[in-house]
Amino acid sequence: MCGIVGYTGNQEATPIILEGLRKLEYRGYDSAGVCVIHSGRAEIRRSEGKLVNLDKLLATAPVNGEIGIGHTRWATHGRPSEINAHPHQAGSIIVVHNGIIENYLELKERLTGLGRTFKSETDTEVISHIIDEKFKETGNFEQAVRNALQELRGAYAVCILCENDPGVLIAAKQGSPMVIGLGENEYFVASDIPAILSHTREMVFMEDGEMVVFSRGKAVFSTVAGEPLEKKPRHIDWSPLMAEKGGYKHFMLKEIFEQPRAIRDTIAGRLMEEDGNVFLEGVKLSDGELAQVERIFIVACGTSWHAALVGKFLIEEHCRIPVEVDIASEFRYRNPIINDKTLMILISQSGETADTLAALREGKARGAKNIAICNVVDSSIARESNGVIYTHAGPEIGVASTKAFITQLAALFLFTIRFGRAIGTIDRDKGRTMVSLLIRIPALLDNVLELNGQIEKIARTYMHARDFLYLGRGINYPIALEGALKLKEISYIHAEGYPAGEMKHGPIALIDENMPVVIVVPKNENYEKVASNMEEVIARGGLVIAVCSEGDEEIRKKAMTTIEIPRDSDDLTPILVSVPMQLLAYHIAVLKGTLACKIGKIK
Ligand code: M6R
Repeated sequence: MCGIVGYTGNQEATPIILEGLRKLEYRGYDSAGVCVIHSGRAEIRRSEGKLVNLDKLLATAPVNGEIGIGHTRWATHGRPSEINAHPHQAGSIIVVHNGIIENYLELKERLTGLGRTFKSETDTEVISHIIDEKFKETGNFEQAVRNALQELRGAYAVCILCENDPGVLIAAKQGSPMVIGLGENEYFVASDIPAILSHTREMVFMEDGEMVVFSRGKAVFSTVAGEPLEKKPRHIDWSPLMAEKGGYKHFMLKEIFEQPRAIRDTIAGRLMEEDGNVFLEGVKLSDGELAQVERIFIVACGTSWHAALVGKFLIEEHCRIPVEVDIASEFRYRNPIINDKTLMILISQSGETADTLAALREGKARGAKNIAICNVVDSSIARESNGVIYTHAGPEIGVASTKAFITQLAALFLFTIRFGRAIGTIDRDKGRTMVSLLIRIPALLDNVLELNGQIEKIARTYMHARDFLYLGRGINYPIALEGALKLKEISYIHAEGYPAGEMKHGPIALIDENMPVVIVVPKNENYEKVASNMEEVIARGGLVIAVCSEGDEEIRKKAMTTIEIPRDSDDLTPILVSVPMQLLAYHIAVLKGTLACKIGKIK
């Protein structure tokens, strides 16, 4: 997830672009850059780190001009560095891009064969080269963009300039957000409304496959294929504060609702549907090396540790290799039995958690192979590990992990497919089924998010409880732990997560008519057992909130209330079940007024 801005009009472009980028820093902040065209010359300034570094650079080396583009980056391909920062120029074409080009390696190989050299490690540089190639063929900027975009697979929102057509700005979108602001003889392009809200409230929302050409004071909309389009502007009356959070009340809610997009980004460019396999560029181990693995340790902290517990179920079930899950702060201080036949998987959103980093170092010192699952590109854990699967969730601004967690689950599922295919426990047909499950997840998440209103009502009913219990079994037991952690973390209500079958060994004594008990009871092989645990809770007067499969009449009859999720593969149910847990904790915290102090910080 990155932020892009474009401007063309009668004002100096640079301050407008910088102001826009500042509002988009929530989308990424590891490097930034601008390009402004003046007297037919493109002036590019880029710098690593937060936007303030670009401000400083521009103070010493200013650029002037009335047409320009800018970018704030959250690295996906290539570490954060000046060389990987956007804009990227090839020949006379300059591009800023938000999204992931799935076929960039294939295109890069072809372009390299044509004698082109690449300066960065990004997928974006391929876009500037391919447009420049087409521009050389056609001599027409607009046509070159159309031809080039039709060769890209994946997601993009792009702003493009051309030194040989210096009065023209082109923007196009496929899969990544883009809004166009209409001013008085001026136009703005941005990834999101807040970037341009101080300049105009008349906005056009671009749809996938659409493109706009700004030239000679006019904006002409069309499809990328060239069909003319009539686009109607909408008046946006959001306050600037609302706009910053995308119209959501809190960053946490925004990030919860972003999850279908986040999963799409996690899997983008990695699925090999035909082969029933996945492509994980960052996993450097060959099939032969993976086949030597005799035992896996997954090590992490907090929410990431809950993801690790789900990973154990997935890998053991499909790869039949023993998996141990460790809390990093425990692992580093004991004497773990690991050797060069051990594979360690370190999970960390930030990639900076000290205990997880120390566990990685400890494992390396003992000769274990390792792979990290991280969100933050080029973080310490990502740098020091021998391979990394980036989750591509985008920056986590709300401190309670939501999208970071479910993308970790998706990354573990990707790894399971890759590992199982390598060691032969997953054949092509099974791999194809597993890949198709992942493809369905974003749409299913959209359905689950529709439960938001219902969950808010449930939150009102139970917000005054002093304690909560969360129960689950098997692959959904870690989700009970995660549900309890979310509630504790943001609402300050005491909550415990338990394996449902363990309840009778003590905690059952706590259950009475004041105790809400959230039970994860989807229709899977554990269904009857969990349903009978639910009966035990009801018998003691507990207030059952059942997270169950859609249309489960039996559970409806017995539970105080049900939250019904679509029935899908058992392996991916944890992703779907996580969402009601997040929403319940969020709404209780909002109602109790405990959220404001916790949310909204940039980590
Ligand atoms: O960045 P990490 O994933 O290594 O962070 C580990 C935990 O601190 C983190 O998962 C924490 O538990 C969550 N933010 C809680 O919502």
